[in-house]
Amino acid sequence: MEEIKKQYNKFLYPEPIENMKELIESNSYAEMCNANIFWDKYFPEKKYTDKLNVLSAGCGTNQIINLALENPNWKIHGIDLSEASIDFVHKQIKKYDLKNVTAEVKDIFDINYKNEFDFVVSTGVIHHTKQPKKALTKLVDATNSSGALHIMVYASYGRRGVYDIQKIMKYLDVQQDQEGINLVRNYIENGPEDLPEKKRYNAKTDKYDAGIIDTYLNPQDVAYDATDIEELIDGTGSYFQNWYDNLFLYPQEYLRYLNIDPKKFNKLNPFESADLTQRHLGQANKFDFILRKHKKFEFLWHDIKDIKNETIVKNGFYLGVASGTDWSSDFGGQLYYKAHSDLKSIPFNLQEGIVWSCIIEGINNSDNQSGVKVSSLLSKCKSMAKEKKLELVFTDKIIKEILHKMWKISLVRFIGKVDG
Ligand SMILES: C[S@@+](CC[C@H](N)C(=O)[O-])C[C@H]1O[C@@H](n2cnc3c(N)ncnc32)[C@H](O)[C@@H]1O
Repeated sequence: MEEIKKQYNKFLYPEPIENMKELIESNSYAEMCNANIFWDKYFPEKKYTDKLNVLSAGCGTNQIINLALENPNWKIHGIDLSEASIDFVHKQIKKYDLKNVTAEVKDIFDINYKNEFDFVVSTGVIHHTKQPKKALTKLVDATNSSGALHIMVYASYGRRGVYDIQKIMKYLDVQQDQEGINLVRNYIENGPEDLPEKKRYNAKTDKYDAGIIDTYLNPQDVAYDATDIEELIDGTGSYFQNWYDNLFLYPQEYLRYLNIDPKKFNKLNPFESADLTQRHLGQANKFDFILRKHKKFEFLWHDIKDIKNETIVKNGFYLGVASGTDWSSDFGGQLYYKAHSDLKSIPFNLQEGIVWSCIIEGINNSDNQSGVKVSSLLSKCKSMAKEKKLELVFTDKIIKEILHKMWKISLVRFIGKVDG
């Protein structure tokens, strides 16, 4: 703990942002855990409310300032081991005269909150502690019974090269100072093109000094296989609701050329699905996921049976990138995504293209673009196919299968009551 505290006191991470307000105004900064924007990822069963009591554990420098500016009605508390980070947060609170946020120097292991917070966020923190499960249990205890947690831990698949470099630097007794930072940079930047870590390093956005320290010279840092996350959560009093983003964590689309019976994929739980996909793709370097305290939320929407006729469908956050439908062929459009900074795509067939078009049309015609019911999608798809003179069969089962597949690539999200 002392080593970690020393590191984050000397090398504040992320790099402190002085002008957060301007960045928000120019849409240049968004926290993933901003439930104001991503409400239904956390609380698909609940109407939006901005009266949230929020804890950010290991808040670092910028997270709670961003959340406080974005959500003036939230009440936010941040804790962190690093005095220097909390000092910076206090300066920003003063600068922006923020009344809805407080911050203190505190170790996660020293908190004793019980059922106090509606929303608990801890991103990139517990994997730097010696007892991640114990830290997670503290955070679960702090969450109230209808609350949610957003947790991010490192994923092993895309970080293999990071650990090789950490080990190399340990053998060479490289220190956490300017000389060490320069040495790491020089090693990767001037190393051979086929150095395994080079591609990831080139895509890295935090190449500043504290970013080099945080990644390559970190003394306490574990990464998880997807299946280890099940073990991490077990016994903490929480249930895994969903991955924050399913793209790259469900295998069907990436192995479609093998023509495998979908039943083989469907019998896997979310951890196994993610593990299989990442053993194939090998690029994830972190897992963001959502935990809840009631068992009824466990693996929500993972089973197709969770999609009801009254479930509301909304577009995921890739709207605008799915395109290209050609009604005269079997090409229903495609979803573009980036993998290792290469642009790739997942094509749809015509039937999927119809469903997608009806979702978008339904959302555009609904009040406040609030989404479209599964039951009304069925009739919309039937009439669109008829209008376009396409001989396609749409049934309740087919629509739900297509929606489920779209959910698995984050193209849609669901809102609705949860049984239990
Ligand atoms: C990688 S930074 C992430 C900061 C922030 N959560 C974010 O996503 O921007 C990790 C932070 O966790 C803090 N930290 C590590 N161990 C901690 C502990 N046991 N208790 C409280 N904070 C801790 C560090 O001081 C550091 O500020």
